[in-house]
Amino acid sequence: KRLILIGPPGSGKGTQSPLIKDEYCLCHLATGDMLRAAVAAKTPLGIKAKEAMDQGALVSDDLVVGIIDEAMKKPSCQKGFILDGFPRTVVQAEKLDEMLAKQGTKIDKVLDFAIDDAILEERITGRWIHPSSGRTYHTKFAPPKAPGVDDVTGEPLIQRKDDTAAVLKSRLEAFHKQTEPVIEYYAKKGVVARLPAEKPPKEVTVEVQKALSS
Ligand code: AP5
Ligand code: ZN
Repeated sequence: KRLILIGPPGSGKGTQSPLIKDEYCLCHLATGDMLRAAVAAKTPLGIKAKEAMDQGALVSDDLVVGIIDEAMKKPSCQKGFILDGFPRTVVQAEKLDEMLAKQGTKIDKVLDFAIDDAILEERITGRWIHPSSGRTYHTKFAPPKAPGVDDVTGEPLIQRKDDTAAVLKSRLEAFHKQTEPVIEYYAKKGVVARLPAEKPPKEVTVEVQKALSS
């Protein structure tokens, strides 16, 4: 399957992705994770992306389309993929559709993580991540076994620089202005499944499975 996960910051895209990936053996491409790795490694791409990311604004379409174009060439992505955090503008969606059309394929389903903005601040400010694996925790909703350390490796957890209430406001603004039109774009193609993302994680997983089996 070729899937897109769309939703505001903290809606659960990164939480549900590994579960979908394991069940359907798909490659998981998260532009936010790839950009954060580039920023940490201070690559030319990371240097260009850092300012926008710190402010909660979107990185330029050309940069992210380039990353995705490159990443989708991996053999593991040929049978199917989960795009988490891409496309985030209508221009990105059009470019993606062009890339797929060249390969004679198209998007099967867009999962729309629908949730009220008011819930997101608590989710974002309580999030802790294990950077090398991408495992995500929450102080209240998904606490690690020991505070501040990853369950599997015992390595320290960190908080994302953009996970503050102030930067969240800009990220939400970018979502409503630039990304919501992408949901509309795919709705016209009849491939959008709307998920109640405010439910507890396990219930959202059940909704994902329902959406993918229909
Ligand atoms: P990105 O990394 O994509 O961040 P985002 O879209 O803001 O999404 P998040 O990762 O914050 O949320 P999520 O839905 O994955 O939530 P999670 O599952 O972790 O992008 C970051 C930046 O990179 C952007 O601002 C932009 O600058 C740039 N960028 C990336 N892609 C781009 C693109 N295509 N174009 C341009 N720029 C781009 O959950 C959050 C927390 O809640 C966790 O602690 C989790 O444990 C908890 N939680 C999850 N589900 C539940 C639940 N059901 N109930 C209770 N708690 C839950
Ligand atoms: Zn994420």
